[in-house]
Amino acid sequence: MAIFKKKPQSELSLSDIILPEHIGIIMDGNGRWAKKRGLPRSAGHTAGAQTFRKIARYCSDIGIKYLTVYAFSTENWRRPKEEIDALMRLFKDYLTEAIRDFKDDSIVLRFLGDRSAFSDDLLALMDENEDESKDREGMVLNIAMNYGGRAELIKAMREIAAEAVDGKISPDDINEEMISNHLYTKGQPDPDLIIRPSGENRTSNFLLWQSAYAEYVIMDVLWPDFKEKDLDAALIEYAKRNRRFGGV
Ligand code: FPP
Repeated sequence: MAIFKKKPQSELSLSDIILPEHIGIIMDGNGRWAKKRGLPRSAGHTAGAQTFRKIARYCSDIGIKYLTVYAFSTENWRRPKEEIDALMRLFKDYLTEAIRDFKDDSIVLRFLGDRSAFSDDLLALMDENEDESKDREGMVLNIAMNYGGRAELIKAMREIAAEAVDGKISPDDINEEMISNHLYTKGQPDPDLIIRPSGENRTSNFLLWQSAYAEYVIMDVLWPDFKEKDLDAALIEYAKRNRRFGGV
């Protein structure tokens, strides 16, 4: 257990627990949040983007080293065009602001996923943010965009197969480390904790390989309503878990 102060569980706070190094968040429930208010789904995403900004900043402030958020999956292209357009506009707005406002910030921005589908102006913003932030020393914020765990594994397998065909490796050389090194998260620790708001009990193709031993915390709150106190609750729940990694 990652709790180092003896206290009744209801009184635990962040100072009593060991924090996870890497948190993943499936930012779910934007559509339901909007529907409950009679608003278009895009309004839910706009509210979700505000929550994302707030929670990313909070994670950085409390000392989380890696945060990965699921912003757009390889399957999300199946949504109506106006919803996709609204999401792309939000990504552009956020990345434009990030370049302008976060100059003195310590957050390192990275993008996970297949970039080939994005427009040139969005790609330029992604490159610029990664480049501007790469030497910073704070939290690594991975934004998964056009990301799918299966697509990521196919990419890794193709790259490894090509090395085998070229005679650079033999099939016996393939091990966990080699596969991890062909993923978008190369060089980063696996997530310890994955939070899914909105009550759904699914992985939805998020960090399939990397989450092999992650602790899942499913929460009933919809993402736009998610507050710092909800993150604290997830962290305390995580700290109570007994992680055994297959041992006893
Ligand atoms: C899932 O909720 C959410 C998404 C597919 C989009 C997540 C994107 C954001 C929160 C925008 C912010 C991101 C950045 C990087 C600015 P859903 O729409 O599937 O919700 P539902 O299950 O209630 O319909």
